[in-house]
Amino acid sequence: MKDVISVGLLGLGTVGSGVVHLIDNHQDKLKHQVGCNVKITKILVSQLEKKRDVQTNGSRLTINPDDILEDSEIDVVIEVMGGIESAREHVLKALRNHKHVVTANKDLMALHGKELLQAAAENGCDLFYEASVAAGIPILRSLTEGLSSDRITKMMGIVNGTTNYILTKMSQEGRGYDEVLKEAQELGFAEADPTSDVEGLDAARKIAILGTLGFSMHIDLDDVSVSGISSVTAEDLEYCRQLGYTMKLVGIASRTEDKAEVSVEPVLLPDAHPLASVHNEFNAIYVYGEAVGETMFYGPGAGKLPTATAVVSDLVEVLKNMRLDVNGNSAVIPQFVKKLKTEDEVFAKYFLRIHAKDKPGTFAALTTLFSELEISLEKILQLPLKNSGLAEIIIVTHKAAKSDYKNVLRQLDLLEEVVDVKSSYRVEGDER
Ligand code: HSE
Repeated sequence: MKDVISVGLLGLGTVGSGVVHLIDNHQDKLKHQVGCNVKITKILVSQLEKKRDVQTNGSRLTINPDDILEDSEIDVVIEVMGGIESAREHVLKALRNHKHVVTANKDLMALHGKELLQAAAENGCDLFYEASVAAGIPILRSLTEGLSSDRITKMMGIVNGTTNYILTKMSQEGRGYDEVLKEAQELGFAEADPTSDVEGLDAARKIAILGTLGFSMHIDLDDVSVSGISSVTAEDLEYCRQLGYTMKLVGIASRTEDKAEVSVEPVLLPDAHPLASVHNEFNAIYVYGEAVGETMFYGPGAGKLPTATAVVSDLVEVLKNMRLDVNGNSAVIPQFVKKLKTEDEVFAKYFLRIHAKDKPGTFAALTTLFSELEISLEKILQLPLKNSGLAEIIIVTHKAAKSDYKNVLRQLDLLEEVVDVKSSYRVEGDER
């Protein structure tokens, strides 16, 4: 093993600056752990002349990726530039040139993880990506190492800080979606274009990665059924509150026997559920294992230094593997062939808010419909809607097959008594 390990950094934005800062500041600790010095020798940037708030301490800045990817002195490449296509090309080239790779890029890993892990294995290289899911929470290593002796059957993740911030403020302050989104953008919690966060795509990428590792079967992004929070209203959240629920955007991966189900959607959780107390921009992943039972991992899901801690921990892992000469084993071939549940096999409780005519027979029509489709009701709340001749009806079902529930939604639209189905959400977690 060399005295000094050379690292090439692709990207010097927020996360890249955090990585430089951590490696500089933790040199003694790194040396103690891996037995050698670690130096970032070259950094790929988009502009050479730019004022930066990080000391690059002798690292050479370059705008040519090959200065890093083709440099035989560089042992490890850290990709924190983001984006998909260029990042994919650079990571592939690094691996083919026998450089170990650490990436923070969830988009890259969710879309091209299989190909990249294969390339890593073929070239005897490590490819680690702890920072790609929930940044500062070491969840990937918890799944693949900490819980490796168990059989994980369910993961529920609040893995998007933007939506958690928005739902927290809407719930706690009774404010509307648009107003809170605008505030989140002004405070820098939400992007100028928030689509990927609020429509659940960011969370879908993360739950695809979690599902793949937790269940040891390759979950593609297209396998994730996705809906976001942009149509959630203050009224929905007020009724959730009255019934003792907290709404969160949750990535769910669950399996029964050999079949899995993966989704991202706004979910109602009983107030006493561990995930219900995860507020603002924080992330948490609830993991259920057959032997261990309930566990939960909580922390910051974004940010310069939290993300950098995950990246540098991956680097430490690469260096420990180098010392033991065991690199190239990170691409664990999934144990199982993917089998997904059909909608007949996915069971959940549902919350439904309906505006219906306030007249004799409305309730009978509703309960008849549910009973004909063999869906049992757990909670019912009815309130008059002032001066409208309508009633607000909230129903929470017992567990039902998703296909049956979708059938109920279709039939409700046809009922003469029902004016509008205002909203419908999945309910998870047992009442405690
Ligand atoms: N945009 C993400 C979030 C952070 O709001 O949590 C990066 O994955």
